Formats: sequence, C-alpha cells, structure tokens
Amino acid sequence: MNSKNINNVVDLPDGRLTVTDNFFKKKQSLPVHLSVLVICSEVNMQLTLSKQFNLISNLNFEFNDKVPEHFSQFELVILAVSSGKEPCKLSIEKLAKKHMPTLLLGDGIDADIVRTAMHHHVQDIIPFKDIEQELFNTLTVCANEILKEKKVAPIISIINGKSGSGASFITSCLGEISADLCQDEIVLIDADMHYGSLADALKLETNYFLTDALNEINKLDNMAIKSMMAKRKNLSLLASKAYAQLDNEQNKNFEHLEQLIWKIKLNHDLVLVDLSRGLDTLTLPLVLLSSQFFIVVQQNIVSLREAKALIQQLTNNMGISKSTIKIIVNRYSKKITNITLNDIKKALAIECVFYVSNNYKLASSCTDLGLPLAKLTEDKIIHKEICTIIKQAFPIEIPTEEPSFFSKIFGGHDAI
Ligand SMILES: Nc1ncnc2c1ncn2[C@@H]1O[C@H](COP(=O)(O)OP(=O)(O)OP(=O)(O)O)[C@@H](O)[C@H]1O
Ligand SMILES: [Mg+2]
Repeated sequence: MNSKNINNVVDLPDGRLTVTDNFFKKKQSLPVHLSVLVICSEVNMQLTLSKQFNLISNLNFEFNDKVPEHFSQFELVILAVSSGKEPCKLSIEKLAKKHMPTLLLGDGIDADIVRTAMHHHVQDIIPFKDIEQELFNTLTVCANEILKEKKVAPIISIINGKSGSGASFITSCLGEISADLCQDEIVLIDADMHYGSLADALKLETNYFLTDALNEINKLDNMAIKSMMAKRKNLSLLASKAYAQLDNEQNKNFEHLEQLIWKIKLNHDLVLVDLSRGLDTLTLPLVLLSSQFFIVVQQNIVSLREAKALIQQLTNNMGISKSTIKIIVNRYSKKITNITLNDIKKALAIECVFYVSNNYKLASSCTDLGLPLAKLTEDKIIHKEICTIIKQAFPIEIPTEEPSFFSKIFGGHDAI
C-alpha cells in the first residue's frame, strides 16, 4: 500500500477509495436537457434515428406516428417527412399554433411543405443523409435558444459527511431563510429515500413525492412541475416517501431523474438538495448536475475522516472540482479547542469553511416541531450564521435593507 503523504488523523488508506466506473463516460452532451417528440411512423427510420439520438446525452426522445393532442411536456418536435403532403402541412400548422419549436427531417421534401415550414418559422430542415453531422449541432442550437429565454436554476447539494451531522436541519434552514431573504423561486428536493424528513421539518403537507414525479415524468409540463410540489410562498418542496428506496420496481424510474431535474431547473431560480444519505447510485444525477456542494461535518475525528473520503470520491472519481466544495461545521463550539476551524480547513484541504453553532433546544424545535427558524424568538445566533452562508455563497440577489431609524442613530447591527 502506498502510504506516503497520509496524515494519520483524517487521511485514508488507498484501499478505502472506490472507483465509480462507467457512469461518468462522456457522450456528446447538450447544454440543457431536451425532451424531444419525434413524429415518425416508419419502424426502420425510427431505428436509425434512435441510434443517432442515443449518441447524445441530456436528450430524451419519444416516438409517435402523429402529432398527439397534448405535447406541451416536450421542448422540441422533430417531424420526419415521409408520406403525404397534406398531413405534414397540417402537423406543421398544429405545432406552430402552440408555438412548439419544430425541426423537419427528410430527403427531397416537397416545395409546398418547405414553404409552409418557412412560413411558420420551422427551426431547421435536415436531410436524412446529413443527419449524422447535423443533428447534434441543430439540437444544440435549439437548446441554446431555450437557455436564452429561460433562467436555469443552479443546484446546491447539501451532503452529510457522516449520517446525523445535521444535513437535513441545515438544508431546511438554508431553504427557509433564503426564501425569506429574496423573491426567487426556491425548491428543496429531499433525496433521502429512507427517512426523508424535510416535509415535517418545514411543516408542509405533502401528498406528491419525488417517486410520483418520476412515475409521471411524461405528463409533467412547465405548469405541472410547479403545481405538483408542496409550497409556501416562494419555497417549494419535492418530498421523499419513507423507504422509497426499497421498492425495486420503482427504482427503475430513477432513470428519469436527470430529465426531472432539468424540468425543475428550467422552472425555478435555485434548487437545494438534501443528500443526507451521502452518495448513492440512484441519486447520482443530482450530484453530477450540482454546481456547489456543502459538506456538513461535526467537530470530531470520525466525522472528518468520513468527509475526507467523500471529498476524495467527489474529486478523484467523479470529476467534481474542489473549488465547488464548501464545508459547514455543524454544532460548532469554540469550547472544543482540540479541533479548530483552521484544523478542519487544513485537514480537508478546502478553502471555504462555515460554521453553525450547537443549540439543541433551537434545532429540535425546528426539526421536531416544524417551527421555522426565522420565526423563533430564541437567540438568533444560528439564524445569523445561516444568513452568512447564504449571503457569501448563494447565487441569489438579496435586496439591501434600508437601515432603521434607531440603527442610523445608534449605529446598531442589522437584524440578521
Ligand atoms: N446546530 C445544531 N445544534 C443542535 N442540534 C442540532 C444541530 N443541527 C442538527 N441538530 C440535531 O441533530 C439531529 C440530526 O440532525 P439532522 O436530522 O438534520 O441530521 P442529518 O445529517 O440529516 O441526519 P440523517 O443522517 O439521519 O439524515 C436532529 O435531532 C437535529 O435537531
Ligand atoms: Mg437527514
């Protein structure tokens, strides 16, 4: 075993690190997830097209032989032109009426169809013979058009260095307080498939869960994706059903998780994910799509060793940049002098370290009774610490408050 450079306190022997295999193999990827409906009735053509589509990641496709009644859950329709001039023109018109971006695919397309297509601003016309070179480029152009029109919410994942460190408590505080501080539409996703607790912590009644959304992925358009979640003002929650992970049949639907995340990203301003269980294969797409990570640790050696392993897994095996990782030392106490914040910074080799103080009474009023942290009248230390994290690290715009009359006179601190 190569043990040089290993620090006995928190470093790990090489044998503890695992390699996460094929999952991270790169295909050509679109800049935003596209759900595409392909209107094509010929089986051979469907096979050829599937082969091309499968070479592109961030793309979901479905075939139909004609334009269906409802198609608002798709971002793009590809119309394979094969037979019949009139049905094709009618399809173009029907799609244009609903402002659905459309691509035409076919060789020697009738001039009349081309005229109708131009009139209705069809995005592009691709000959079959050029599909290999042109499909990815054209889809990228369509994806970029969507990106221009819509804000794409970044994802921040809150991961436990070790179970019980306080990831759920911190996620609910971050969600609740950031929603309080700004007007942005903020979503919390509870990705703890065993003991999801955010609904209780936030006192939100939920009857629709992450697993339901995955089951119904094809029905979720931009409206449905917003209305399905439990909501209080600008804070929404996609809750998790207890023991959902034990249902093998259900687990197959996690193949739609990436698609679901993109739908959520495209319809909100910020997504926070409670990854209390740490890393697992089912919820991996959430990790891979996150732009920031908060690893929650406590001030003890075991917690730091686990956090070190997690950071190595993320950076060495999953290609996550270290600069996106921040640490939150939860239940922090200045009285613990043998492990200081500086020690943690050095041991984990992470530049940005925040802390949240230990206050059992306050934390359990939030987690057990669902009392919002912002409304608790008890000491406001934790509230202030959470605000510091949000102000320094969250990609949201917080309106600046006018100083109050008294603070102008006495120069006092802001309320938070
Ligand atoms: N800063 C704090 N001060 C005191 N108690 C805290 C603090 N943060 C969390 N707790 C308490 O610690 C317990 C565990 O917190 P929480 O459920 O958030 O942890 P978790 O990391 O999500 O755990 P799990 O691994 O079970 O998902 C709860 O009872 C919570 O009230
Ligand atoms: Mg938890």
